[in-house]
Amino acid sequence: MARILTGIQSSGRPHLGNLLGAILPAIALSKLPGNDALYFIADLHSLTTIKDADERRQNTRAVAAAWLACGFNADDNILFVQSQVPEVAELTWYLSCFAPYPMLANAHSFKDKKERLADVNAGLFIYPVLMAADILLYDVNLVPVGKDQVQHLEIAADIARSINHIYQQEVFVVPAPRVDEQVMIIPGTDGQKMSKSYGNTLDVFAPEAELKKKVMGIVSDSTPLEDPKNPDTDVTARLYNLVATPAQAADMRAKYLAGGFGYGHAKKELLGALLDTFGPARQEYARLLADPAELDRALTKGAEKARILARKRLAVVRSVLGF
Ligand code: ADP
Ligand code: TRP
Repeated sequence: MARILTGIQSSGRPHLGNLLGAILPAIALSKLPGNDALYFIADLHSLTTIKDADERRQNTRAVAAAWLACGFNADDNILFVQSQVPEVAELTWYLSCFAPYPMLANAHSFKDKKERLADVNAGLFIYPVLMAADILLYDVNLVPVGKDQVQHLEIAADIARSINHIYQQEVFVVPAPRVDEQVMIIPGTDGQKMSKSYGNTLDVFAPEAELKKKVMGIVSDSTPLEDPKNPDTDVTARLYNLVATPAQAADMRAKYLAGGFGYGHAKKELLGALLDTFGPARQEYARLLADPAELDRALTKGAEKARILARKRLAVVRSVLGF
């Protein structure tokens, strides 16, 4: 039996890359027999960069609604908001006193943010310690993450091992990363990696007109309509492959190779496939956001379940440390 945990930052409405690269695989993992999953919205982490309170509230709900709309079962598992389990802040302090300064100063993500951001605050510096607390609070075995987070997980495991060693007991379960090498990078509308920071996302949960505009704006080359086209390099065809059924994908591939099929046609079919595939999720998402009270109740319930686990682990930690 494995306990799985992952956090997703509350930095806006999840896009197709987030869904295919993180949310849907994590939901599939939560459904495997014997697994129990704790998935949370990392709103405390978002304070390192986002200072606007309304923006945070909105983003937090948008991310939570996306998980539920995509089929995460929050009754059998736990979906919660990080800040609603304040125990994590206390554990962060304890862990920070076991986190060597050079280890944090050498973290890639800190070095990268230090170069790019105007506001280089202490929260950015101890970001991996808060992340370690997220994990160590819940006796987690597996943490599914993208490659960019692996170093943060190594930091969490290092801190856990070091405390276990100093106090000569298993204060914490040492977590293992689970990096899915198969997960492909979903291309954005400009062909680069889809990312909020590049403004090239397909917002699956956006109103249809907005989604249509983004789909119609996907890059394409200037091959004339009647000529054959390359379905392996064209962004529309690659995206279609990811969201259409295998039969539909084979059909579009044949049309590309035959010629006489324009990029405009392909984009219309892609929009149709997105609306078909994500239709039920879009409806549920809209319903949840139309009644945030119901969503908030579900999150409060999730936090209560998470706090039971958190308090247990924290009691052990306090006693071991002599508090
Ligand atoms: P963004 O780059 O839009 O800010 P995040 O870095 O917040 O997205 O990513 C949240 C999750 O979604 C991470 O697990 C990340 O690996 C996954 N993800 C984001 N963009 C993509 C993409 N283009 N392809 C595959 N997975 C992605
Ligand atoms: N730092 C992660 C990211 O940006 C989000 C996150 C916060 C997380 N706490 C976590 C992921 C704990 C896994 C486990 O993607």
